[in-house]
Amino acid sequence: MKAIATFLFLFIGIAEVLSLSEPLRLVSAFSHITGELDKLSLGNCSLKGLELPLNHTKTRLPGPSSHLSLKFVAIGRGTQNYSCSSSETSSHPKKSSTPVATGAAATLFDASCLASQSLTLLHEFPAAIGHISPGSLAFMAEALTLITNTSELIIGEHYFNTAGDPFFDLSMSGLDMWIDAKKKASVNAPTRVSRSSGKDESDVPWLKLGCKNCKDIQEVYRVLTFEGVAPSTCMGQNDTVLIQYAAEYWFYG
Ligand SMILES: *[C@@H]1O[C@H](CO)[C@@H](O)[C@H](O)[C@H]1NC(C)=O
Ligand SMILES: *[C@@H]1O[C@H](CO)[C@@H](O)[C@H](O)[C@H]1NC(C)=O
Ligand SMILES: *[C@@H]1O[C@H](CO)[C@@H](O)[C@H](O)[C@H]1NC(C)=O
Ligand SMILES: *[C@@H]1O[C@H](CO)[C@@H](O)[C@H](O)[C@H]1NC(C)=O
Ligand SMILES: *[C@@H]1O[C@H](CO)[C@@H](O)[C@H](O)[C@H]1NC(C)=O
Repeated sequence: MKAIATFLFLFIGIAEVLSLSEPLRLVSAFSHITGELDKLSLGNCSLKGLELPLNHTKTRLPGPSSHLSLKFVAIGRGTQNYSCSSSETSSHPKKSSTPVATGAAATLFDASCLASQSLTLLHEFPAAIGHISPGSLAFMAEALTLITNTSELIIGEHYFNTAGDPFFDLSMSGLDMWIDAKKKASVNAPTRVSRSSGKDESDVPWLKLGCKNCKDIQEVYRVLTFEGVAPSTCMGQNDTVLIQYAAEYWFYG
């Protein structure tokens, strides 16, 4: 049934290309093709031998610890959060202050099967779904789960806990796995040229995270990031600035 997950992502990719943005149209078209696709077998979607795309960046992130194995590949879609409130004073007006990172929140969609089938396609997903609203994605995932009466496509949530640590809860996969993480390494994302404007765009850094407290997941990578970068100044911004982003997350345990 993991095959379904692969095709959700495939379909979203196709739909994005065709600019079919209405969730209902997506779902009805989707329910039609899933009937067909369900007949296909994609095997067991083994993650064995899959390699992190560490050579895409100028400086490489350190690789995963050798005793660990890849447990999940997920596509995260959500927001990077920034604050434009704390630094404002009369002598230091908002327009000259810069946004401060306060955390992030994202839904984690299962992409392990897609990863096992085609890394090339997987790597296209963050950009492909970066502009689909998280609500529409969650709706499609839920609709698909109902239509196919199969496994959940949403495997977890990423948020910042009360201590301010990045936290990944993968319990929606049906397994009791989580990690309260800490940053181990960060490298600039590769330069990306916008398809529409032709200008260079920046994306949030690629990261390696380690375990502060964890169960069955010890290292997490955020790679193939898409957007999420704060505006350069707070001028014209609200106190809370939420910047949409998507990324691949690779979980090792
Ligand atoms: C699952 O995939 C692995 C690696 O490709 C293979 O060794 C194994 O035999 C497969 N299992 C089944 C049940 O197909
Ligand atoms: C990057 O790594 C992949 C496998 O992880 C490999 O196939 C590819 O040749 C590498 N590219 C470069 C430029 O080293
Ligand atoms: C970040 O923004 C999301 C909305 O996308 C919100 O649900 C979450 O609580 C915020 N988290 C932090 C730490 O600011
Ligand atoms: C849905 O799946 C559950 C268990 O996986 C099964 O008991 C139930 O009969 C299925 N429902 C339909 C309509 O196929
Ligand atoms: C500020 O918040 C309002 C209300 O939530 C919203 O309509 C507006 O687009 C926001 N401004 C910016 C620059 O994001």
